[in-house]
Amino acid sequence: MTPAASADGAPSARSPEPRRVLVLGATGTIGRATVRALVRRGHEVVCFVRARAGVGGALARDDSARLLAGAQVRVGEVADPVSLAREGLRGERFDALVSCLASRTGAPKDAWAIDHRAQCTALEAARGAGVNHAVLLSAICVQKPLLAFQHAKLAFERELIASGLAYSIVRPTAFFKSLSGQVERVKKGKPFLVFGDGTLTACKPISDDDLGDYLADCLDDASRRNRILPIGGPGPAITPREQGERLFALLGRAPHFKSVPVGLLDAIIGVLGTVGRVVPALADKAELARIGRYYATESMLVWDAQAGRYDAAATPSTGSQTLFDYYAALLKGEAAAERGDHAVF
Ligand SMILES: NC(=O)c1ccc[n+]([C@@H]2O[C@H](COP(=O)([O-])OP(=O)(O)OC[C@H]3O[C@@H](n4cnc5c(N)ncnc54)[C@H](OP(=O)(O)O)[C@@H]3O)[C@@H](O)[C@H]2O)c1
Repeated sequence: MTPAASADGAPSARSPEPRRVLVLGATGTIGRATVRALVRRGHEVVCFVRARAGVGGALARDDSARLLAGAQVRVGEVADPVSLAREGLRGERFDALVSCLASRTGAPKDAWAIDHRAQCTALEAARGAGVNHAVLLSAICVQKPLLAFQHAKLAFERELIASGLAYSIVRPTAFFKSLSGQVERVKKGKPFLVFGDGTLTACKPISDDDLGDYLADCLDDASRRNRILPIGGPGPAITPREQGERLFALLGRAPHFKSVPVGLLDAIIGVLGTVGRVVPALADKAELARIGRYYATESMLVWDAQAGRYDAAATPSTGSQTLFDYYAALLKGEAAAERGDHAVF
């Protein structure tokens, strides 16, 4: 196929075989970018979204329709099979399912309800509607699963592989929004927080549009069929320390770091985990602290199980947009970072 080069603004190649595509999770960060990429390629895109979507339910139906221009927007509840069939699929035929659906909290109950159960329901419904290829946004961290949401995602990956449909399971590294939470505080003169010395982990950040292009191209690229696809952005792997150094350089200031010991997270996890046995709300907070600890200590790169280490060279790259260009755009006010429902910094 002809690769589509669109993240840098150049026109994308149209798909040689435009399809009718059902998109789930279209109102999320990567869902939006993926819908843009699919529409540019000339696919007929139908998005099934919630009546109140986006972070904190900030988007009404019209807002979602504006954000997803070029796609048809249908409203209902993806976790409800009746709503999915009646308001989503409407008895029509589809060629492909692209799912960027993901729990917004990462809390265990939500993760199993969305990242596993709702995905299974949707896969079954999509198959009934004629879908023969499913493209799934997963995460590179499921290769070393320790957290509830990772187990939920892996369980669905297994369902998809066993379904008999063609699949492309895309496991990206870190998103720009997850690495931009400190830009505002550093701009205000505060130090850049790092765990340990800031070199415990590394990742190859990938931009929303580069990932959206990659997901959309899975429909046409035969080499991405029936594969699990770890994917990062362009350039070398970078550590949190390098992120901070570049941020200070862009601001024209001397680097100023504050080190947070990983042991602090362990203590928080210990306390919340114990109290969480009697107060369920704190059990969710304990899981969020476990998620924080995971990302403080595990790299978002391909894991070499034999060597027992992360391997930057084995982590494929795509796209053209870099985290540091994004930092520069944030500082100039030319871009705005979307904060999630559970931002850490
Ligand atoms: N952050 C990272 O650095 C990173 C790196 C690699 C992989 N990942 C993976 O990427 C995925 C997250 O992507 P993202 O940042 O694009 O997600 P996001 O912005 O949080 O979007 C999640 C999407 O799922 C939908 N959704 C969530 N709960 C729902 C529910 N109960 N009912 C219906 N729809 C629901 C959301 O709809 P609403 O708009 O209605 O809420 C939204 O469309 C996760 O699987 C994560 O593990 C993340």
